[in-house]
Amino acid sequence: MSQREVNRILSGVPAADGDGVQLTRIIGHHGLSELDPFLLLDHFGSDKPQDYIGGFPPHPHRGFETVTYMLAGKMRHEDSAGHSGVIEAGGVQWMTAGRGIIHSEMPEQECGLLSGFQLWVNLPAKHKMITPRYQERSANEIPVESLEYGKVIVIAGKTDQGTKGVIENHFVEPLYLDVHLRSGGQFSQTIPSTSNAFIYVYQGRVTVGEQKSIVKQNELAILGAGDRALFSTDEESRFILIAGKPLNEPIVRAGPFVMNSEAEIVKAFTDYRSGKFAS
Ligand code: CO
Repeated sequence: MSQREVNRILSGVPAADGDGVQLTRIIGHHGLSELDPFLLLDHFGSDKPQDYIGGFPPHPHRGFETVTYMLAGKMRHEDSAGHSGVIEAGGVQWMTAGRGIIHSEMPEQECGLLSGFQLWVNLPAKHKMITPRYQERSANEIPVESLEYGKVIVIAGKTDQGTKGVIENHFVEPLYLDVHLRSGGQFSQTIPSTSNAFIYVYQGRVTVGEQKSIVKQNELAILGAGDRALFSTDEESRFILIAGKPLNEPIVRAGPFVMNSEAEIVKAFTDYRSGKFAS
């Protein structure tokens, strides 16, 4: 067993998306275009309605999966196939856009804090055109493992103690954990050496590995080679730990479409314009 150490620390960049939603883009910007198989990670979080009220009006996706994890507030989603619902605080929606979906994601509130993450997970070439599907789980359906000084919310993958996440995904075998530690808290996790892995600290600061690298609030740390990772903290901290198997395939992206070739992107636009995303 070898410890994964911090390879690189980056800060996100301020961005606006949808209808003026203010967010921090952590993956998917000029400094880090992707971290295979992850194409994008956004952190939205504000108690100012003007920062989020516009939401994300109807837009298409093709070729990958979008994962919304709400920390606070509520988001309503609706799609072109008639599927709709509300993701509440602590809930997750893992949407496999596959061959295409048009959906909207709008805040289900006019004031108060709205906060969460959106992660884009690429699909392998041979599965990019699969039928869209959803996995939606509310906070009380997501397993929580207690630690001596904290807890782990297990969205996807399996902890070393055997707690299994609620999301099924065999495309990239993802690990998605939301780790909460109090001062003195420690957490150790096996991560297959074939996966790419990172943490994003959204509260406090976290010490990583035997080299004891410190990752501060609002920082992304890409983890290097190894098959396990060790985290500790001396203050109340929260971070997401995400890992997945890289696809090692060509990536051609144009806004909401992520395919393997230019021709497939052109086809995505043609299909979208001719109404083939409608259901
Ligand atoms: Co979307």
